Order: sequence, then C-alpha cells, then structure tokens
Amino acid sequence: MGRPFVLEERTHLCDAPPPRRVHTAAPRPRRLADGPSGPSRQGAPRRYGEQVIETERLVLRRWRETDREPFAALNADPEVMEYFPSTLTKEQSDALADRLEAEFDECGFGLWAVELSGEFIGFTGLSVPRFTAHFTPCVEVGWRLARSAWGHGYASEAARAALDHGFGTIGLKEIVSFTAVVNTRSRRVMERIGMRHDPGGDFDHPALAEGSPLRRHVLYRIGAEVFRSGNGTVSARR
Ligand SMILES: CC(C)(COP(=O)(O)OP(=O)(O)OC[C@H]1O[C@@H](n2cnc3c(N)ncnc32)[C@H](O)[C@@H]1OP(=O)(O)O)[C@@H](O)C(=O)NCCC(=O)NCCS
Repeated sequence: MGRPFVLEERTHLCDAPPPRRVHTAAPRPRRLADGPSGPSRQGAPRRYGEQVIETERLVLRRWRETDREPFAALNADPEVMEYFPSTLTKEQSDALADRLEAEFDECGFGLWAVELSGEFIGFTGLSVPRFTAHFTPCVEVGWRLARSAWGHGYASEAARAALDHGFGTIGLKEIVSFTAVVNTRSRRVMERIGMRHDPGGDFDHPALAEGSPLRRHVLYRIGAEVFRSGNGTVSARR
C-alpha cells in the first residue's frame, strides 16, 4: 500500500510535468474493508493492507492473477475497444494489468478491478494521466467493463464510489474525466455521476494521430463541493 497521495510529491512517478499546487492531500487513506478480515467473495485471501471498496452490488479491489483472462477477453472485444486505437493482444492486456496494479503502489490509489458476485467484470477508478495537457497534472476517473456488464448501472455505481474515495479519502479538490467526443456511452456515465462538460477544456489527445476521428476529446469536471452537495450523486438512470 502506498503512502497517501500527494500530487506535488508524486508527479515524478506519473510522468507528469513539474509540480504545481493543485490540491491538498488527506493524512491517510481510509480503508473501507481491509486487511486480514477473512476471504474475499472470490475466496482468495486478502493481502494485509489491501484496499477494498464495497458498493451496493460491486467490489472494487486490487488486481489478481485470475483477472488476466477475463481482462484479456474484454480488451480483445472490438465493441469494448471501439473508441480506442485498437484491441489489445493478450501480452498487451497483461502488461496493462501489471501497470494498473503498479499504480496503486506509486499513487496509493488506481483503477480498481471490479467484481460482481465474485466475477471480474472490468475496471473503474482513479488515475493520474501520463500525458501533458492544459488540465494536467490532475486525477482522472475512468472505466472499462466487459460488454456483458453494460446496461446495468455498474460503471456509474463504481465511479461514484471512486469519486467518494477521491474526494473523501484522498482529499482531492477536483476530478476530471475525458473521452473521445464520439464515445457517448462514456459521456453518459460522466453525466450520470454529476460531472459537467467543460467545452472550453476540450482538447486533442496527444497520443492519437492527427486526423484520427478519436483524437478530439471532451473534458468533464467535478469539484469536491459539488459532489458533496449531492449534485454528484444524481440518479443513475436518465
Ligand atoms: C463506458 C461504459 C463503462 C458504460 O457502461 P454502461 O453500462 O452504459 O454505463 P452505466 O453503468 O452508467 O449504466 C447505465 C445503463 O444501465 C441502465 N441501468 C439498468 N439498471 C440500472 C440501475 N440499477 N442503475 C443505473 N442504471 C441502470 C441504464 O438505463 C443505462 O442504460 P442505457 O445506456 O441503455 O440507457 C461501457 O460502455 C464501456 O465499458 N465501454 C468501453 C470502454 C470505454 O469506452 N471506456 C471509456 C473510455 S474513456
């Protein structure tokens, strides 16, 4: 388990530009279900200090070896990857799983593996973008679920828990999210969880080639005050 996230200290670990004061850090992450408290729903023992967030229907947890197969399957699904440059090979998918798990040690938070009834269905959580843009350094909320898990409100439920962790436990002042303009499903999640489009913040993603229809990205934001005031917990249904 990493130390509490301090953006000013950690930017070098996340390839972000030189430190700039963005938010304050909380003293120590609160663990919602933690440590040697017995087996998880999947039966695997929890490592000491493992951070687990439980929502009404889901468990957000650190990554396991057994997540690799279902993760590779969703990363190989053209529908899931429609708004990414390409699907991923098994090797690329495994490397991504390794990187996502490593980010927990670097930052103290990350993109959690999401479980539904003991089954891995994808990821949702917080990350620090590695590219430079007008709104970085920052913390982003993101999601990717298997096609079979769409249409049930799971992404919104998990994302609300991630925002709650970001604002409550980490002490962030603002969380952003971004996606290709054409990714309307993802934009609807942003809106469901109370994020607001910042049209002036839209940008060309530097990792995507000029001319790519995915290059233009929308930027959504939510502040701690808005989240706490309840505007970030609007109904999951539209
Ligand atoms: C983006 C993504 C996570 C959205 O998944 P999703 O299931 O549509 O999103 P939500 O969890 O908010 O679910 C909302 C849907 O569930 C329905 N739903 C059913 N039961 C529900 C419940 N109890 N509560 C809330 N919504 C419910 C809603 O009506 C809505 O369906 P609709 O879109 O057909 O109207 C998914 O499409 C995905 O993984 N895409 C690929 C990866 C990706 O693009 N990631 C973003 C990159 S930036």
